Parts: sequence; C-alpha cells; structure tokens
Amino acid sequence: MSDLKTDKQIRKGHPYHVELEPLGRRGRFLPGVSVMEMARQLGIDLISLCGGAGKCGHCKVQIVKGQVSAPTSAEQEKLEYKELDHGYRLACQTYAKGDLVVHIPLESLSTPQRVQVEGIEEDVIPEPLVREYEIRMSAPSLSDLQADDDHLAEELKQQHNVTCLNMDTLVLRKLSTELRSQNWRVQATMRDSELIAIGPWPTRHLGLAVDLGTTKVAVYLLDLETGKTVASKGIMNPQIAYGEDVITRINLVRRGSDEANRMQNLIVEAINSIAAELSAQVDAGPEQIVDAVIVGNTAMHHLMLCLPVDQLAYAPHVPSVRQALDIKARELGLSISPGAYIHFLPNISGFVGADHVAMVLSTGISKAKGVVLAVDIGTNTEICLADHGKMASVSCASGPAFEGAHIKFGMRAAAGAIERLRLIDQEIEYHTIEGRKPIGICGSGILDTMAQLYIAGVLDKDGRMTENHPNVRSYEKGREFILVNEKECEGSAAITITQQDVRQLQLAKGAIRAGIQILLNEENNSEDDIDQIIVAGAFGSYLDISSAIAIGMFPQLPLDRFNQVGNAAGIGARSALISQTKRTEALDIAPQIGYIELAGVPNFGEIFLKALSLG
Ligand code: FES
Repeated sequence: MSDLKTDKQIRKGHPYHVELEPLGRRGRFLPGVSVMEMARQLGIDLISLCGGAGKCGHCKVQIVKGQVSAPTSAEQEKLEYKELDHGYRLACQTYAKGDLVVHIPLESLSTPQRVQVEGIEEDVIPEPLVREYEIRMSAPSLSDLQADDDHLAEELKQQHNVTCLNMDTLVLRKLSTELRSQNWRVQATMRDSELIAIGPWPTRHLGLAVDLGTTKVAVYLLDLETGKTVASKGIMNPQIAYGEDVITRINLVRRGSDEANRMQNLIVEAINSIAAELSAQVDAGPEQIVDAVIVGNTAMHHLMLCLPVDQLAYAPHVPSVRQALDIKARELGLSISPGAYIHFLPNISGFVGADHVAMVLSTGISKAKGVVLAVDIGTNTEICLADHGKMASVSCASGPAFEGAHIKFGMRAAAGAIERLRLIDQEIEYHTIEGRKPIGICGSGILDTMAQLYIAGVLDKDGRMTENHPNVRSYEKGREFILVNEKECEGSAAITITQQDVRQLQLAKGAIRAGIQILLNEENNSEDDIDQIIVAGAFGSYLDISSAIAIGMFPQLPLDRFNQVGNAAGIGARSALISQTKRTEALDIAPQIGYIELAGVPNFGEIFLKALSLG
C-alpha cells in the first residue's frame, strides 16, 4: 500500500483506503481528493479531454464498493440513468466518503494502446553533427607543463585537424581525471568546434529523435555512425491526463508557472524513461546519447520549452519562437550525455509547427514535380500542398474524434478496439485489434462504419441516420446503429454508433476536406490536378483509403495516387538527427511554406459547410 500523503497530512483528517481495480493499485487519501486525482497519484492516467471539467464524459469509472459524493449535474448530463444505477461515475466529479473499491474500465485508460512508431526508413547518408575522435596523448612532465585543456585541443588539431574552440563546463570538470584514468587515450566527442564529452575509447555514440505529438510521443534511438534506428517506442503523451487538446493544456498552463513546470516535467520524465529503456535494449546507457532532435506542433514545442503560450490561445495565434533552437539537454532536464544539445526544428506558425517541417522534409514534397498533397492526420491535421515546389499549408482542427474521443463507444487503438468493419447485406463483419472481444471502436473502425452506413443508405448525404436497417434503434438521445449486440458483448452494453457520433465525424472529416479545398483554390488547382496524396500520421497509416474517399474526406482519385507513409514527422526527425544536410534542408524548408490561416479565408464557412456532406 502506498501512503501518498505525508503523515502530518493524514493526522489532520481521516484517510480513506482506496483500491483501483483491475490494476490493483491501492492508496490512502484524505477527503476532498477526486477519484481522478487518486488515479493520477497512483500512476493511472484516465482519459481527460476536458481537463477534469466534467464535460467530456471520458473519465468514466465504476464504484464497486463504498460511499461517494452525489452525482453532479455534469454527471447527470453525461451518464445514462442505467449507468448511474450501476455505479458508473465520472472520476473527475466523484469524491470518496469512505473506503472505496473502484473499477477502471479499459476504455477510460489513456494507456496502453497501439502507438505507431513505424515509417519508411529513409536512406539518408549519415553525416552527424556530433563526431568522436580517438586521442592519444603523453602525460605532462617537468619539461612539458601544458594544461590539460590546451594539450587536448592541440592533439585534436594535430591528430585529426579538428579545431576546438569551446569545452563544455561539465566536461572540463572531469577532463583531468578522465585523461589520467584512461591512461591518456580517450574519446573526444565534438559538436562543431565544441568538446561536449570525454570518455574511454571506443564508446558507441547514440542519438535520440522524438516526435512529440499532442496525443502520442514516438521516440527513436539511432546509432549515429550507421544512421540506423536501433530501438524505438511509442507512448501516449502523459500530458493527456490534463486535457486531450492543446487548448485545454494551454489554459491550464496559463494558471501559473507551477502548472507549466508540471506539464514540462511530465514530458521530460517520459522521454528520460524511454531513453533509458531503449538504451538498455542495445546494452548502452543514456549517457551515450550525444545528440537529440525533437519535433512537435507549436504548442507541444512551447510547453516542452516552458515558453509563453498565451499568444497561441488568441487570434492571430502567433508563436513565441519560430526559429530553430539548440539547447543543452541538461537545461531541460533530459538525462542524456550532460554536454549534449537538443536541436528543435523551426516552427512555421502558431498551429503549424516543427513536426510539419519534419514531415515535409521526409516526404520530399518540396522537391517533387507535379502537384502533391501531404496530409498528416492528428488531433490537429496539417496539410501541405506542393505545386511544383511552391508550398502552402493549413492546420485544420479535426479534433480527437479519430482518436475515439467524443464518440460514445470510441476508444484509442488498443486491444479489443474494432479497427475494420464491413456491412455485407444485413450482416456486420468486423475485426478487432489483437482479435480480442470487442470493447469499443477506434478511428479506422469509426471511419469504416461511417462509410459502410453511407454506402448502405443508413446515413443520408447530410449524415442523418435513417431507419433503413434493422440494427437502427432509438435511445434517449436519438437514433443509433448497433454494431455489436448485447449478446455478443456477453452482458455488457451493445456497441453502437449514434447520430451524435456521426455528427462528430462529419466535423472532423469536414475540417480536413475544407482544408484540402482551400489549398487547391489557392493555386486554382482542381482535385484532378493532384498527382499524389501522401497520408501520414498514426491514424493515417491504419485508415482504409476507400472509406475515407467514400465519406468524402479525401477527393475521389484512383487509389494508386495515395501513399500511406507512417509517421513522417518521426522519419523527418531521424533524418535531421543523422544528417547535417537534412538539418540545413529543414531550416530552408520552413520559410518556403506559406501558411494560410483558415479563419482569414473569406468563404471558409461556406467551404466547410459543403465539406460536411457525405460522399
Ligand atoms: S468528464 Fe471527467 S475529465 Fe472530462
């Protein structure tokens, strides 16, 4: 049992004993701590799209035993009577009134789930900015009284023709000891003309590339000599527990520096723990990571760097910092080689960040001939249209619907999520992740469902659910379509898609389609002019293109014009890590991209309304 309050605090009030099942976490809490906060303190992240305001309904838990506060009006609004009767409550609204046993449903957990780190590995010739050199030196003597730093700099010049103009302070502190303990044969690690590490020769050098998404974080460990990815891992962004979209997180951070630091610490700790885990997988230590590149949208970039975010929340949404940055890893609390730097690729605008630059870099669309559209689907979808090298980008608020949020039975891509669905005559065929019993539906399954219902005439062009199928039924908020009935769910509620879910998806797909249309209009292109559509992002890799075309999210073009490339931002981050040429290319790309602010497009409302239609 973990005592999370201090003894003094516990003496002040009567602590309750709380058990969270089926994860088996236990703790003691004073009155006044919400179930959401209890879970957080016990290391369990519940989905919290609204930051605990009781508005999203995704932090659902079931009180199995014990007394809790009465349901709030927010809970009465978000939960059905039947659910309240069965003890279901919103964790952010519920407070213990005694010892408790709480069941956390899998779909309320922000982890574990499938987080995509794959992408086509680019064939980039390694030319890292950080290089290591073997140095053999003689020990000083009464006839050679040269200081250790001067001596090392001289040997670097003589043995490798490398000029050393600067030595990291922490390296200087260990320089003399290291030279002597290594018997005057060392590995000097240089970044440009700065000595950033000193140690035994030979030591394998590694680099870390991070794609910091609003929802997901992909981390790659690379061998800097070969340029190959040696280990990788994806996790959910731990900041999710404080709000699923960037605006909720920005609003939280605006409350004060404690919140800003907390948000930054969350992500730094997550990267540190993955860096240690991935290094261990290749028999190395995180101190062997001597270079890092981080890309992310502008908000994630600013939160990671503790930069001001107020101006991102209000029009005209300008970034605080646009330029590329090189910052000592230790300044941000990253536990890699103490002298290493983190390179942050440049941002473009308040809503189009370094991850977009990385995507453009890896897809090569800046150099492509013809008209190429690159769509990176996420909570915010960034789209770039390159017309013979002339690039323009937009950011569309597609929202978290494709992550399963705001969808009655929506969930992220975890085991048991329906990821493929077909309606064959009156029969429904589906496939779940890992073939498990269905517990909800993830983005690709939601998209398939919408396409199938539209093709079968269950949804009309305006997205209205008709009664053209025996699986359509009414519930207290309108119509819904049964995908998996109660019997198949073995006693749990049937999995359905409701009319409200369809509306959420229309908003998401409408935002993407409107963004595409505005980019096409910009250069007077038609859909037929598009030679290639590159679909990037985790959800983009799993979606069925024909479903996306069927509902009108993508233009009706032959399937061979589409190319699903995986995590293109992650691939770009890796390229910038191992290649100085690619890093410079990224610097050149950023100012070439013309950003179009959708709010400033005169007929945006009209285009968006049209884009909401299905088909
Ligand atoms: S309703 Fe509880 S976090 Fe949104």
